[in-house]
Amino acid sequence: MIITISHQKGGVGKSTIAFNLAISLMKSYKVEVIDLDVQRTITHTNQLRFSNNLKKLEILYIENEQEFDEYINKDNDKKLTIIDSGGFDSALNRLAIYYSDIVITPVSDRFNEISGLMKYKEIINELEVITKEKIVVNILLNNINPQVKNFEGLENFISSNKEFKLMKSILRQRVDYDKAAWLGKSIKEYNKKSKATDEFNKFVTELKKKLGI
Ligand SMILES: Nc1ncnc2c1ncn2[C@@H]1O[C@H](COP(=O)(O)OP(=O)(O)O)[C@@H](O)[C@H]1O
Ligand SMILES: [Mg+2]
Repeated sequence: MIITISHQKGGVGKSTIAFNLAISLMKSYKVEVIDLDVQRTITHTNQLRFSNNLKKLEILYIENEQEFDEYINKDNDKKLTIIDSGGFDSALNRLAIYYSDIVITPVSDRFNEISGLMKYKEIINELEVITKEKIVVNILLNNINPQVKNFEGLENFISSNKEFKLMKSILRQRVDYDKAAWLGKSIKEYNKKSKATDEFNKFVTELKKKLGI
C-alpha cells in the first residue's frame, strides 16, 4: 500500500508529515519510506535517530522510472510505503501520485497557497489525461496558526475543484515539530501528551480509516 505526501511546492510540511507518519505507523506495520526529495530531509532526520539510539526508518531511494516500476510491481498489502515527494514537478514525483493508494497534500491557509494549488491541479489534470484515470488528492491543512478557526476562503476553493478533497484533521503550527526533528524524534516521541501529538494522532486515525487499515 502506497501513501504519498505530495506537492510541487516546497516548505509546506511534506517531509515533516512523512517522517512523523512513518514513525507512528512503524509500531504496527512494516513501513518503508521512499525519499524522493533531493533535499533528503527525512534521510537526515533518520541519521539523527541512529545517533540517539532510536529505531531507524527503512529508507529507499529511487533514481529512475524503471526502478520505480520494479518497486511497485513488488508492492504488497503486508507493508506500507510512505513516499516523501520533492517540492518540484518531475516524472518521478508524478509517478508517485499515480502509483499511490492515497495522496496527502499539505497546505497552509495563506492566500498564496491558491496559486500553488492551481499549478498542482494542472499537473494532476495532465496526469489524468495520460492515465485516463480520475485522481483525487487529500488536502491537509498544516502549519496553521492555533488562533485561526475560519478557513472559508480555502474551503470554498477546495470544494470547487474536483481534484481536491479537504481532510477533517488540522495540524496547527507547533514548535515541537522542529524541536523533535533536532533529536531525530517524532513529535510523539518528543512529548506524548502535547497538542501537536494529539492533532497528529487524529490525522493518523483519519488516514487509517480512509485506507481501511
Ligand atoms: N505543523 C507545523 N508546525 C510548525 N512547523 C512546521 C509544521 N509543519 C512543518 N513545519 C516546519 O516547516 C518547515 C518546512 O517543512 P518541511 O517538512 O521540510 O517541508 P517540505 O518537505 O514540504 O519542503 C520545517 O522547518 C518544519 O519544521
Ligand atoms: Mg521535503
